[in-house]
Amino acid sequence: MTPTVDSDLEQFAQEVPAGTVLFREGERGNVMYVVHRGEIELRRQVGATAGYPGSSERVLAVVTPGQFFGEMALLKDRPRSATAVVRHDARLLVIGATTLEAMLRARPEIALRIITTLTDRIENANQQIELLLLPSPNHRVVQCLRQFANEELAGQVAPGIAILVRKSARDLADRTGLSVAEVQEVLARLAAAQLVVPAEDTSRSGYLIPEVGQLSEFLEFLQLRDRYRQL
Ligand code: CMP
Repeated sequence: MTPTVDSDLEQFAQEVPAGTVLFREGERGNVMYVVHRGEIELRRQVGATAGYPGSSERVLAVVTPGQFFGEMALLKDRPRSATAVVRHDARLLVIGATTLEAMLRARPEIALRIITTLTDRIENANQQIELLLLPSPNHRVVQCLRQFANEELAGQVAPGIAILVRKSARDLADRTGLSVAEVQEVLARLAAAQLVVPAEDTSRSGYLIPEVGQLSEFLEFLQLRDRYRQL
């Protein structure tokens, strides 16, 4: 559901075309944004000093209607922690510190929403840490698919139910810290073993997992194989 913009917030609304860079990582910033329409991609340099050989950009998150971003620089007077690029034409509310304070005083439920979003981000970061600690691309992709499957069903994964994970190889690469090519290699192996079926038609693109339990068994197999490899 698209949220409505209160008429008193209308004055802060801006239409921004796809491709616009709202701000870059490292810049100073004194506004935050609430997405009313469109999508914003948050990208961060990883691997080496930004802009130097060896560094590459990873998508941290995609912000969709009803969500916000850019609050860190605003609240902590720190440089932007990521670059924000408009993915699809967007309508944004651009909010400065004074307006934010007034909004929080007038509508405390906004503070609750901010806390919930920050909690989601911590959960996401914890999941990423879990993936980065796994030893091989196989482990990471399988575990990442299980995480996505859980998110699709809001944690209600049940045995015997096929789950369509509506993510691309790029999404898996961003979460696992692997390259798209590495992810595709693992997905091809999983597809050959029929643990995952690529779903290509446009309305249902992603990866179908016929049985999440089998994916879990495969992960256990990988872990056991690693444990006894030295024997
Ligand atoms: P700011 O640092 O001002 O600019 C970049 C924004 O990206 C940041 O505020 C947050 O709103 C957002 N951001 C930073 N890290 C993450 C993350 N791990 N997940 C989602 N959003 C993030």
